[in-house]
Amino acid sequence: MSYLLGIDVSTTATKALVIDERGQVCATASDEYEFFTPRPLWAEQNPSDWWRACVNGIRRVLEKIPAHEIAGIGLTGQMHGLVLLDADGNVLRPCIMWNDQRTAKQCAEITERAGGAKNLLQLIGNPVLPGFTAPKILWVRENEPEVYARAAHVLLPKDYLRYKLTGAYATEPSDASGMALLDVAKRNWSDELLKAIDIPRAWLPDVFESPVVSAKISADAARETGLLEGTPVVGGGGDQAAQAVGTGIVQEGIVSATLGTSGVVFASSDSYRLEPNGLLHAFCHAVPNKWHLMGVMLSAAGSFRWFRDALGAEEKERAKIEKRDLYEILTSEAARADAGCEGLIFLPYLSGERTPYPDPHARGTFFGITLRHGKEHFVRAVLEGVAYGLRDSLELMRALGLNISQVRASGGGARSELWRQILADVFNSEIALVNITEGAAYGAALLAGVGAGVYTNVEDACAQTIRVTDSVTQGKNVAVYQDYYQVYRGLYPALKDSFEKVGAVAARGV
Ligand code: XUL
Repeated sequence: MSYLLGIDVSTTATKALVIDERGQVCATASDEYEFFTPRPLWAEQNPSDWWRACVNGIRRVLEKIPAHEIAGIGLTGQMHGLVLLDADGNVLRPCIMWNDQRTAKQCAEITERAGGAKNLLQLIGNPVLPGFTAPKILWVRENEPEVYARAAHVLLPKDYLRYKLTGAYATEPSDASGMALLDVAKRNWSDELLKAIDIPRAWLPDVFESPVVSAKISADAARETGLLEGTPVVGGGGDQAAQAVGTGIVQEGIVSATLGTSGVVFASSDSYRLEPNGLLHAFCHAVPNKWHLMGVMLSAAGSFRWFRDALGAEEKERAKIEKRDLYEILTSEAARADAGCEGLIFLPYLSGERTPYPDPHARGTFFGITLRHGKEHFVRAVLEGVAYGLRDSLELMRALGLNISQVRASGGGARSELWRQILADVFNSEIALVNITEGAAYGAALLAGVGAGVYTNVEDACAQTIRVTDSVTQGKNVAVYQDYYQVYRGLYPALKDSFEKVGAVAARGV
């Protein structure tokens, strides 16, 4: 029996996971670290912390599965982070992470140097956002010229682990798409953009497809981790693409909706499709010759958590006394309200928004309150508002010609049956659950299995390991939600200016 190792360098921990070729999870270990916010809007992490956590994780899973039985390794992790190395492979400064927002000025500079927003969209398939990698390189050039002068390699977080494990400078297209330097249509670097912003191509790693062997475990790394020298390491994938592989989102028509703190709608696409206004991320998939479209909502289950903490004190007491789950109490309250909450609508923009409104000033809103409304309506309105927000991404995908036949729900929020039913009715689509809940590391292990020859291709790996375990179909509330969704759609445009104004007043303080 062959075993496959997936390694996920996430924002909070690095996780190592071993599966067998039937897809059974055989060992997992994870080791945590922190990120630092040296200034407001900044977020940094030390690559040495990832490496320490990676070595610990590997050593712990190898206590269960012997190293010579690991047929392949796949890497995944937080996207967009900038790791800068000198010519000898030494880290020059802490990683500037995906959630770092310091580069608004550099984003504007890149857009201008690329010949404007339209041209940039043609070159890289996306607008450049402050979290992406390219503007961070320019930030270092402007603010830390002594660091910039010594730079020789640019890597993403998971690709830094690859460098430590194998000595190779390599990446793959799904994660590289989020650097704002990749020609997403061609699945390789955009020479035109690199020239326009004056970044040497030689700094960038070679691009291998996600399930292709990119390098092998070095003698040094074998000594440090206990892995066998020569074990193949495949390209892997950015966390969203690898997570999609790990839930079987590898064919057109099947889409995932993740209800984590943030909400992600992810669709596999057989061809390169571009949202004309750049409102959806248009990235390469971790499947050769496939792409993906992605909408990111900043407060999904995070909105429900906010409600629990800000307005759920009474339910918290009850949960303690009755020894029940607090979310379960809140959702059973929500179930008492009618679909549509008699006209109470929640806008879930508690921390601004990304898709479909890239607007840091947007705010959460309850709209349509009357004397009839009680707590049950407010809880339900939160669940419905998040579903409307996710539908916005689905609608952008449908407008590009994607035919959506099934939505697979995942993340903590998907555990609620009521929320899954609301999603089915608001999306007018079947909502399914799958057997795998291990996230990106699982997808990375499947990619390793393709590279090691255990599976024929990524689609085959998913077909052999992932299956639907439960599903709900849309019911009688589709029509009422359709009408309320139209009202929801009108609210952000009506409030946009007021959001910005109220933010400015609030920022002045009292
Ligand atoms: C994707 C994104 C996050 C990070 C951290 O665009 O910003 O998924 O990769 O998880």
